[in-house]
Amino acid sequence: MDQPRRVEHQMTDKGYVPVYTSAIVEQPWSSYSSVEHQTWATLFTRQMALLPGRACDEFFDGMRDLGMSERAIPKFSDINQILLAKTGWTIIGVEGLLPEVDFFTHLANRRFPVTWWIRKPEQIDYISEPDLFHDLFGHVPLLMLPIFADYMQAYGEGGLKAARYGNEPLTELTRLYWYTVEFGLLNTANGLRIYGSGIVSSKSESLYSLESAAPNRIGFDLKRVMCTRYRIDTFQKTYFVIDSFEQLFRATVDPDFGPIYYELKGSPAFAAGEVRDNDRVFQRGSGEGWLQDGDV
Ligand code: PHE
Ligand code: CO
Repeated sequence: MDQPRRVEHQMTDKGYVPVYTSAIVEQPWSSYSSVEHQTWATLFTRQMALLPGRACDEFFDGMRDLGMSERAIPKFSDINQILLAKTGWTIIGVEGLLPEVDFFTHLANRRFPVTWWIRKPEQIDYISEPDLFHDLFGHVPLLMLPIFADYMQAYGEGGLKAARYGNEPLTELTRLYWYTVEFGLLNTANGLRIYGSGIVSSKSESLYSLESAAPNRIGFDLKRVMCTRYRIDTFQKTYFVIDSFEQLFRATVDPDFGPIYYELKGSPAFAAGEVRDNDRVFQRGSGEGWLQDGDV
């Protein structure tokens, strides 16, 4: 079989643009270099030291049961034995970002795409696109939690449905993914905890999302989130806080989004850093260090 390709964002005269690829590949585990295993070890060790008291218990439970360690880049086949038995999910190797409908189709079938390649040493602290560390360390532990596993499958089905409704519904559904799966916070009796994969896989954002005075932290509300723009190039200006995974499930999986898409049609989106009158505010951000333009 051919070596899988490493599909990365391309530099153009308009800056970096994402490149999409549909291929599913075997993880070329024996071809990882010692530098690549070391990159995994550095990132794994650093996050596992930082996250106690910051990431939610469910993340650590999943991580422990999956048996990931700093010793080496995990084998997808080892992960799958445990994950499939626990929640019926499998991970599949991919070369980079997938086209939306492909991504939704995989989720709807309980397959989570994981990029086979890991970032270069000079990208340890920041990479603008998902790599193996983000996908595997960030996303897969919560797929061990039955209610979150079901949420992710329902999200895939919801994505296929939104794609039939059109571009605006797709944008609104994508915001939901961004502010929950990627950048969500959970309210617990011991304080706020991280569950979003974009946060748990980043040292600086793990600290910023919970401890900085700059960002807003606002209670989760479905339509509010669906109408809120976000940042892809810097820390979030706003984090949305759920009270429980049950709350998230009831608010998103249960309702039929058809009427909601219809109701939201043509309504203007909120800026990423805006605080609204009806918001349940955990923290009103100071806004320090915010860039003025660039919300998507
Ligand atoms: N319930 C949503 C719909 O009817 C689908 C969905 C599920 C959306 C889970 C987000 C998360 O379209
Ligand atoms: Co991600």
